[in-house]
Amino acid sequence: MKNNKDLSGENILVCVAWPYASADIHQGNITGSYLPADIYARYHRLKGNRVLMVSGSDSHGTPVTVKADEEGKSPQEVFSYYHKRFLELFQKFGLSYDLFTHTDTENHHRVSQDIFKRLLEQGYLYRQISEQMYSPAANRFLPDRYVEGTCPNCGYPRARGDQCDNCNTLFESASELISPRSKTDDSALELRETEHFFLDLPKLADDGLTKWIQADKEHWRPQVINFARNLILNEGLQGRAVTRDLDWGVAVPVPEFRHKVLYVWFEAVIGYLSATIEWANNQNQPEAWKSWWYGKDARTVYFIGKDNIPFHAVIWPAQLLGIERLYESDENQTLNLPYDVPANEFMNMEGRKISGSQNWGVWMLDALERHDPDPLRYYLTVSMPETRDSDWSWQGYIERNNNELVANWGNLVNRVLKMTHRYFDGVVPEPGELREDDIALLRSIDSGFELVGELIDSCKFRAAAAEAMALSTVVNQYLEEMSPWQTARNDEKATAKTLYTAIQAINGLKILFAPLLPFTSQRLHRLLGEEGSLFGEQRVESYEESERSHNALTYDDAAAVGQWRRQPIASGQLLPAPEPLFTKLDDSVADDELARLGAKEHAA
Ligand code: MF3
Ligand code: ZN
Repeated sequence: MKNNKDLSGENILVCVAWPYASADIHQGNITGSYLPADIYARYHRLKGNRVLMVSGSDSHGTPVTVKADEEGKSPQEVFSYYHKRFLELFQKFGLSYDLFTHTDTENHHRVSQDIFKRLLEQGYLYRQISEQMYSPAANRFLPDRYVEGTCPNCGYPRARGDQCDNCNTLFESASELISPRSKTDDSALELRETEHFFLDLPKLADDGLTKWIQADKEHWRPQVINFARNLILNEGLQGRAVTRDLDWGVAVPVPEFRHKVLYVWFEAVIGYLSATIEWANNQNQPEAWKSWWYGKDARTVYFIGKDNIPFHAVIWPAQLLGIERLYESDENQTLNLPYDVPANEFMNMEGRKISGSQNWGVWMLDALERHDPDPLRYYLTVSMPETRDSDWSWQGYIERNNNELVANWGNLVNRVLKMTHRYFDGVVPEPGELREDDIALLRSIDSGFELVGELIDSCKFRAAAAEAMALSTVVNQYLEEMSPWQTARNDEKATAKTLYTAIQAINGLKILFAPLLPFTSQRLHRLLGEEGSLFGEQRVESYEESERSHNALTYDDAAAVGQWRRQPIASGQLLPAPEPLFTKLDDSVADDELARLGAKEHAA
């Protein structure tokens, strides 16, 4: 079993939105959920908590089948193409999933069916004949996503059949839309009867959901808890169909329904649970998932975008309540409900909505051909849409990189390392007794661990980045005051104290920045003469034939040495030749990047 999982500490399950395997990932997806999840997970690992961070490709659902239709491919082909690209991107960008799998594994199919059967047993699913949009032109029932029309709530003309992207209203049926039509061929649709299973949300509301949503949620973001409370308490929940007339998906485990599948949202959220079971099996500890799902003090945190709030703050908690204990052999306890759902708002780009079809976005795998991961991570953190929609601008990216990473943090590291080489041949000097200023500086760094830690723990990532950068400014000011380049002429003792202190300070900042900037913090770790890896190793795991041949991304922290505190760098330690952590970007970078936007088709 992994090292970090053996420590005493909290069990923290970091659940990250499952991207549809139907399009490349852009900066809005990253800043919306994957990056905050990764920062949170890395911080908690450094704290010594038992972190499990899971997600995977959402391989079912109409986004995948729509894409397959468009390209004349099978849904499997589309899914496996994008899944592979996700694995490559997440590895290059340093998203430290303990397991990034997908929903087309045997394991996920089985667990989803088990949960369906469990809800049926518990009396939370009922059968009902309803009317569904049918396309006479295509001779089949159309999924809600294939239907477009005017939102009855806000009047948005291009609302989808399942949800309005403009006002977040969920529709029980696409027939609620005004003048519904087929998204594929714009043809008129008619209603026909079909039988489906429905999740009994009103009953689940009475059996615990209402009580749960009313209980203390002080630490939740107001927009998330208000939305969920309004849905449950004011609007009131209605039963929701959880099966569909499709053939790509998880088969409904009831004999007469074998030709139908589970609704993608019903089974995709189950991925959070099935992925932990898959992870536990991979560890040869098939019961290990239970510490995160049944553990009384375990915390489950869901990192998602705002369009996913209803499913994570209302419907998935209802499913979990209804499952109660999953297997007979499980002790009689309820599965843990979300501790928090820190949903983000959206990120725009250069003042416009990010759009795949208009090639308006930063396609992350492509961007990593020209940019290092840490500057991208930094800019995406400082402009994270935590409380309102935010905007990506290439000019902003260049400024943040040049003014903060290069001129502040990078320059500090550079100066300290270079002066240590110039004045002490690269050997960490012996400081003798530290002065008050030295002690005060190290004290501010030490209190930074509490401050930055609390900010990350409460999902205030922008503020955490600002706080770490402010501490870098403090160390730069200390250097200005101490002016080791002047004392070097006549006061070697003072110079030794200053550089010794500055080295200790940047060694602390290395850890404070590490959840945000794991690659450069690791490089600095080595530049300070230290060994080992702050975090674990990410690997693409080959599943061969067993899990339908698709690989997964895994993370192994057995050898990780990072800890959330300032550890001393010993006097006498020899530092390798310094090299800069960051590179200054010319304004022409923005012109170059802007020229890539729009016009030409974004390469799929
Ligand atoms: N693939 C869906 C989306 O991107 C769902 C993500 S989260 C899940 O919006 F847990 F529901 F899969
Ligand atoms: Zn609407």
